[in-house]
Amino acid sequence: MLDKARQLLTASKRSDVPPFMVMDVIAAAARIEAAGGRVIHMEVGQPAAPAPATAIKAAQLALPKGKLGYTEALGVPSLRARIARHYRDTYGVALDPARIIVTTGSSGGFVLAFLALFEAGDRVALANPGYPPYRHILTALGCEPVLIETRSETRWALTPEALLAEHRRKTLSGVVVASPANPTGTMMNEAALSRLIEVAEGEGIRVISDEIYHGLDYAFPAVTAAALSPRALIVNSFSKYFCMTGWRIGWLVAPQELVRPIERLQGNLAISVPTLAQIAAEAAFDGRDEMEAVKHGYEENRKIVTEGLPKAGLDKFFPVDGAFYLYADISRFSNDSVDFAKRLLEEAHVAATPGVDFDPIHGKDFIRFCYAGSAAEMREAVERIGGWLKR
Ligand SMILES: Cc1ncc(COP(=O)(O)O)c(C=O)c1O
Repeated sequence: MLDKARQLLTASKRSDVPPFMVMDVIAAAARIEAAGGRVIHMEVGQPAAPAPATAIKAAQLALPKGKLGYTEALGVPSLRARIARHYRDTYGVALDPARIIVTTGSSGGFVLAFLALFEAGDRVALANPGYPPYRHILTALGCEPVLIETRSETRWALTPEALLAEHRRKTLSGVVVASPANPTGTMMNEAALSRLIEVAEGEGIRVISDEIYHGLDYAFPAVTAAALSPRALIVNSFSKYFCMTGWRIGWLVAPQELVRPIERLQGNLAISVPTLAQIAAEAAFDGRDEMEAVKHGYEENRKIVTEGLPKAGLDKFFPVDGAFYLYADISRFSNDSVDFAKRLLEEAHVAATPGVDFDPIHGKDFIRFCYAGSAAEMREAVERIGGWLKR
């Protein structure tokens, strides 16, 4: 009887996904702040700036009207059309708005995409290091994430050769690419991305392109997979470039054949995406000037950290092409990134994320810094880190 009762309270095996280590850093930083310490936050990957004023205004105007009902499962038609226009304006790609699906952040988009593309048991390739929820969402859905190690010679991106080698070993059903990537901030140029897509699709491997950091490119312009293949599935979001993390809104560009299956999934899983967020997101596109100013701030920060951290002692890091991350090799100082991040926080009051969150293989030797704060904070962080490492 006791066993039966215990069974009732046991979580499923599929729900046994690891937590984000960064949550521990956030909690420890909060304790320091509660005790009066001033922490510089470089741990969470989110913009410090608010949503564009145009988005906030649109939401304010919508609220007094009262009713915020469900919307179409695929999203408000005018927002889908506006997103399609964004592809024409930004990349010169003509997209049928019928291929756009509005989602609850890109996180919601991943669940829909993986469900629509894969069967339980399917193997899906991911670059290592990479964004942990790719692995964890796939695992929870019964798919098998397959980590492929990346190298400095390929700017830490997946190559067709590495993908094919894994596919020959055991069949892959899909691959997730991200450019700019998290945690590395590195990007793939058009030739590298198009070769990867061509080779993957030639082998029947479905390509999912996470383009959440598009717009935040400094080394060269990011290329959308939508321009390279009508079969690729694109995941994007208003969270990063448009500074709308908490609004929980993103989108997919799907091959036409997959739109109806995704619509059925979305209708059942969520009914629709929050209406107020959809209204705000559509207006966000009118706030591009404001967002470009925010981006210039990141560019300044990027200069501060890429010039300052080597002087501070951290001189080995991945190319800082895009997004707002710097992924630093700390192996000269420690081979335990959790302990390093803990001491950096406790002793220098700089919060950063241990690499083990992103890389189960070599993550002990790396730390991720997010440089989306203010320039003054970034300067002070570099100084604090330098003082701490030389102490
Ligand atoms: C690479 C990458 N993809 C997806 C997401 C999820 O973002 P959201 O669900 O807010 O769109 C994040 C968030 O940090 C990310 O870094």
